[in-house]
Amino acid sequence: MITIKTKEQIANMKAAGEILAACHREIAKMIKPGITTQEIDKFAEKFILDHGATPEQKGYNGYQYATCASVNDVICHGFPKPEVLKDGDIVTIDMVVNLNGWLADSAWSYRVGNVSEQADTLLRVTEESLYKGIEKAVIGNRLGDIANAIQVHAESNNFSVVREFIGHGIGEVMHEEPQVLHYGPAGRGTRLKEGMVITIEPMLNTGDWRSKLDSDGWTARTKDGGLSAQYEHTIAITAEGPIILTAQ
Ligand code: MF3
Ligand code: CO
Repeated sequence: MITIKTKEQIANMKAAGEILAACHREIAKMIKPGITTQEIDKFAEKFILDHGATPEQKGYNGYQYATCASVNDVICHGFPKPEVLKDGDIVTIDMVVNLNGWLADSAWSYRVGNVSEQADTLLRVTEESLYKGIEKAVIGNRLGDIANAIQVHAESNNFSVVREFIGHGIGEVMHEEPQVLHYGPAGRGTRLKEGMVITIEPMLNTGDWRSKLDSDGWTARTKDGGLSAQYEHTIAITAEGPIILTAQ
C-alpha cells in the first residue's frame, strides 16, 4: 500500500530533510585527503543528535552506523572505516534522519581532492540524472517516466545504471511502497498522486551495472571494479510540482 501524506506530514518530513541537508553541507566542507569516513560518521551522528533528531540507519536491520560511506568501486552500504580518504577518491555518504518520527533520506557523492576526469564526469552525470528523474516526479506521470529519464541520461553518457538497489516510498518507515526503479520504459508503472513521498537515488557505474556483495553482508561493489556514484533526494509529489525535502 502506498501511503499518502498530508501537507502537515510533508512539512514534518521537510524539517527532517533540512537537518539532513545541513549535515551534508558540513560534510562537503570536511571532505579532503586525510579524513576518515569514521570521523565523518561520528560528525554526522553528533550533528543529527544535536539538532534533536536521530540517525535512523543506526540499528536498522543490524546496521551499526549513522551513515553509509561508499568509496570508489563501492556502490552503496559501505561501512565507515578508520582508513583515510586519499586524493582522487570519490565517496558517497548516505543517511536517514528521523525527526519526531518522520524521516528523510539523502545520499551525496563527494570528490576527495583532485579526481580523474572520468570520476568527475561520473559524479556530474549522476547528479544530473537525479534531477532529470525529479523533473518527471509530477502528478499524473508514472514511475517509469522517472526511471527512463534517468536511464537515458546515464547511458547516453556511457555510464550504466545499477539494477539491484532502488528508490522507495518513505514516511514514518524508511522503506515503504512503491519501489522506485532507475531504469526501464517510460509510460509504465504506478501513476504518481498528490501526497506520495519517494526517494530517487540513482547509482551510476563507469563500467557494467552488476554488483557483488562483500563477506560483511552489506558492502556492495561493482563486479568489474569500475567506479560508482550516487545522488539521492527525498521528493514529495504535490500540486505545485515535486518538492525536494532534502534540498541543500
Ligand atoms: N539510505 C539507504 C536507502 O536509500 C538505506 C541504507 S541501508 C541502512 O534506502 F541499513 F544503512 F540503513
Ligand atoms: Co533511500
